[in-house]
Amino acid sequence: MADQLLSTVTHHGSLPETYVRPESERPRLNEVLRDADVPTIDLGSPNLSQTVAQVADACSTYGFFQVVNHGVPIELMLKMMAVALEFFRLPSEEKAKLYSDDPAKKMRLSTSFNIRKEKVRNWRDYLRLHCYPLEEFVPGWPSNPSSFKEVVSSYCREVRQLGFRLLGLISISLGLEEDYMATVLGEQEQHMAVNYYPKCPAPELTYGLQAHTDPNALTLLLQDPDVAGLQVRKDGKWIAVNPQPNAFVVNIGDQLQALSNGRYRSVWHRAVVNADKERISVASFLCPCNSAVISPPEKLVADGSPAMYRSYTYDEYYKKFWSRNLDDEHCLQLFRS
Ligand code: OGA
Ligand code: NI
Repeated sequence: MADQLLSTVTHHGSLPETYVRPESERPRLNEVLRDADVPTIDLGSPNLSQTVAQVADACSTYGFFQVVNHGVPIELMLKMMAVALEFFRLPSEEKAKLYSDDPAKKMRLSTSFNIRKEKVRNWRDYLRLHCYPLEEFVPGWPSNPSSFKEVVSSYCREVRQLGFRLLGLISISLGLEEDYMATVLGEQEQHMAVNYYPKCPAPELTYGLQAHTDPNALTLLLQDPDVAGLQVRKDGKWIAVNPQPNAFVVNIGDQLQALSNGRYRSVWHRAVVNADKERISVASFLCPCNSAVISPPEKLVADGSPAMYRSYTYDEYYKKFWSRNLDDEHCLQLFRS
């Protein structure tokens, strides 16, 4: 029911029991590395071979990077953030109409991750949308705030274009034709999660979003420029991804790990919450078409590196992903060859 939403309550006095993680699973915020950060890549650079090398390095060592001078209008990014915040500020009755905890729904406002399955909740509300093709889905999107459809659809178009540009760089960086990944992934779906992490009375005891890897191909995240929260696993430690002005955070999803035959990594990441600041993030997921067959290119299974995963369709993978808990073992482990 819609009264599960966090954003319908203006002040949370103490953390309800259902959000409290057992001692051994807490974020241990004082152990997080604050100055390590993931690489930043300037997509405005005229030096293509340098950019390709930076992409290769970031994808193989971190699985994450930030991009600047990426071509998405800054004003549109600001508008996207503003309309997201405005959405979560809508009156409860308005939000209640959109609430659902059914993961199969293509438009829903929900909370935590999957409350039908999980034991402990995440301190997050989120609006999930399907975004491609736009003509098919926009009519079903929220019509309040009144600028929502227009702003979000422009934003989705731009982000999709950037995503394809990145898939091109990723393909080249693996020694493949520029259009290799885009072709294998087929007519890609595009999903969006608009995440709202309210101020939390006990950030040490819970998560905004517990550790997970993204099941799709590539994720582009717009994060609150003023509030940190995203953290990435590297060499057994958590490192904070510090927000940079006008940047997108990009990460490799499970499908690019499989298609690169394990050279590029879909790494564990999580979002933590703050006592004195709410936080918004907007995640755009490029997802293979359901019938896409995920199997590494010949070139990457040459001598000495046999296929790490058996071949499968994205449809099969996605069903498996949602049937598990978010922080079980890496879902790709279930597809090892
Ligand atoms: C996600 C995600 C991180 C964040 O939505 O998959 O990893 O900072 N979000 O909101
Ligand atoms: Ni994620």
